Amino acid sequence: MENREMQNNAGHLVIGGCDVVELAMQWGTPLSVFDEELAANNARMYREALSSLPEYEIIFAGKALLTVGIARFMTNLGLSLDVVSGGELYIALTAGVPAQRIFFHGNNKTAADLGTALDLGVGRIVVDNLYELELLSDLAQKKKRTADILLRIMPGVEAHTHSYIQTGQLDSKFGISVAHNQAIDAVKLACSLPGLRLRGVHCHIGSQIFELASYAKTIDVMMSLIAEAEALGIELTELNLGGGLGIKYIDGDQPASIRDFGAYLTGALKSAAAKYNLRLPKIMVEPGRSLVGAAGTTVYRIGSIKENKGSRTYAAVNGGMADNPRVALYQAKYRAVVANKMDQAPEHTYTIVGQFCESSDVLINSIELPQLEPGDLLAVFCTGAYNYAMASNFNAVPRMPIVTVYRGQSDLVVERETYQDLIRLHRIPDRWLKDGVEGG
Ligand SMILES: Cc1ncc(COP(=O)(O)O)c(C=O)c1O
Repeated sequence: MENREMQNNAGHLVIGGCDVVELAMQWGTPLSVFDEELAANNARMYREALSSLPEYEIIFAGKALLTVGIARFMTNLGLSLDVVSGGELYIALTAGVPAQRIFFHGNNKTAADLGTALDLGVGRIVVDNLYELELLSDLAQKKKRTADILLRIMPGVEAHTHSYIQTGQLDSKFGISVAHNQAIDAVKLACSLPGLRLRGVHCHIGSQIFELASYAKTIDVMMSLIAEAEALGIELTELNLGGGLGIKYIDGDQPASIRDFGAYLTGALKSAAAKYNLRLPKIMVEPGRSLVGAAGTTVYRIGSIKENKGSRTYAAVNGGMADNPRVALYQAKYRAVVANKMDQAPEHTYTIVGQFCESSDVLINSIELPQLEPGDLLAVFCTGAYNYAMASNFNAVPRMPIVTVYRGQSDLVVERETYQDLIRLHRIPDRWLKDGVEGG
């Protein structure tokens, strides 16, 4: 999961066998570089980590990074795909992901999206709430189909992570709470409604989680619910534990490795099965960040450098909060290097800011780097998850391209947006084309 910082004889950063300075010349900046070998290794580690479970499935959480190419890449690696909107579903289908390998999530799916999911026969629809349960049952009956579903449960476990990316606590917008018998009542309802086949239960307690103990608590709650259902004669054969494993963004971060995470989960599942006298259900995990986060590096060009006497030295890059909103959203921290000065000592302290018209457009508050000059290349690590996926066109800045690198070769996954792309959907109403009209 760690970044392997390689440099060549020229003192340039190397990723996936490619000289990053040459990548910047070939593809321009800002540029998102995807180290496919790193991502593929992470997928393999997940498989190995869960291999002692009787039955398991690894589902890539597309919300972390979803393009047609990435969806295809993940499918080639043998992973299933989690989507949360009609748009993500469309990307998955365009990529050729088999419908059966798609998990359809979301806390406010539209009837149209549910209808499409039914028509396509997606693998599982993860039902978030009672309104959706009834809506789906109606749609399924009208279409004479049966939907294979999981129920999203709010297990009441507080993962120790930023409150904006906590999702398992009892006060959350996601899922059906275990409190006041709501979850078990929903299980009973799901079994009684026509057009639905309840396969199991789902939960996701948050993201960028370091403390594995939160998973043990969650597993206990979920297995207890499965036992409660079994006592009523309802067999839940699948347990989806969501994603959430953290990654090392900065030196102080100490996430568990994928291997330790798998071993911990397996142990906790086996003891919960013994405690509740249950057979282990099929286990699913839905990693996003821990599959692709460290595989992404954003390469920016340094522009203005401003020494504020008595305060800080600001270095500005040709990107910022529109391509990486995580810093402004939840104070995320990043590590970076100067890709063309890997052989120089970091002797100066900088604040790295973006080009956008917001004071909160700061990428790194304080970082030691070699002396910066305009034109240098700043490589910010661990930007593979929730960066491109959350990017916007704020200030009408086109989104950067993504290139995948593998053993010295680089290929486009997403092209750079153009100014024409920015205005593709813009229109001028005819009335506004005339001079001196009312309201104009
Ligand atoms: C339902 C669900 N599954 C999986 C994930 C992936 O989480 P992560 O990227 O932390 O692994 C998320 C992220 O928010 C999610 O909401």
